[in-house]
Amino acid sequence: MDNERRDFLKKFLTLSVFTSICPHIALGELVPTEIEKKDDNILQGVYELEIEQYPDLLEDYGSVMIKVYNSKLNYYEEIYVTRVPENIKAEHFSILRNICPHEGQYVLPMHPITKTFTCSGHGSVFNVTGNYQSGPAAADLTNYQYYAWEPGDKYLKILFDFYDKTGITENEQMHIYLKNSHPNPCGDYTNIFYGTDVDSYINYEIFDLQSNSVLKSKKEYKVKGDYSEKINLQNLPNGVYILNLYMNGIRTNSLKINKSKD
Ligand code: FES
Repeated sequence: MDNERRDFLKKFLTLSVFTSICPHIALGELVPTEIEKKDDNILQGVYELEIEQYPDLLEDYGSVMIKVYNSKLNYYEEIYVTRVPENIKAEHFSILRNICPHEGQYVLPMHPITKTFTCSGHGSVFNVTGNYQSGPAAADLTNYQYYAWEPGDKYLKILFDFYDKTGITENEQMHIYLKNSHPNPCGDYTNIFYGTDVDSYINYEIFDLQSNSVLKSKKEYKVKGDYSEKINLQNLPNGVYILNLYMNGIRTNSLKINKSKD
């Protein structure tokens, strides 16, 4: 993989970090420090979460949520990174998927008083390290791989393997990325950030949750590079919208926009 392609893939595999409690407020981005192509279907991203950048992670039981979302690779998941009190586990952080091992329902963020995670499906309960406590799920939540963290380390290193479940090869796709919009939630304006490593026609269209098209941009020819666009939402009522990005007329990426401010 040449350096230019590697740099592009780092943007392509950039993740977003949110508060773990609803409404999940965007806190920052997690750009992989390294990308490895393990075979035709697997890209591995190495991420370094800077602990001090997220004050929640400085407190016992404080946590953030990372959206591991990549529409190209058909990969949607949310994980919780939680600071574990020293007397419970030596590593001081747990990294848990929000998918229950029982029947795959979503696991809710940590309850602020009981300090446990509860499955929204059939109510299984897990403790802060992901160990099963009660309910029909007998196994632990799956832990993600992370490098050992030593007290005083600035970063928590996390590894994700992105399996290309779409069967789409790298040559045909994976040439455009779309970051989370900012601000989000937003008022009358928000900005989108995207980039491509091939020259192409790009446009976007915004839909409401009933799938009605409410705003559309013109198709523009873009040379390879990074772009940002300010979107005027003044004429739209508050609500949740889906923005689709199109490359050469094919929908490639989507994101949710929450207009909720006056
Ligand atoms: S899916 Fe979680 S308890 Fe059943």
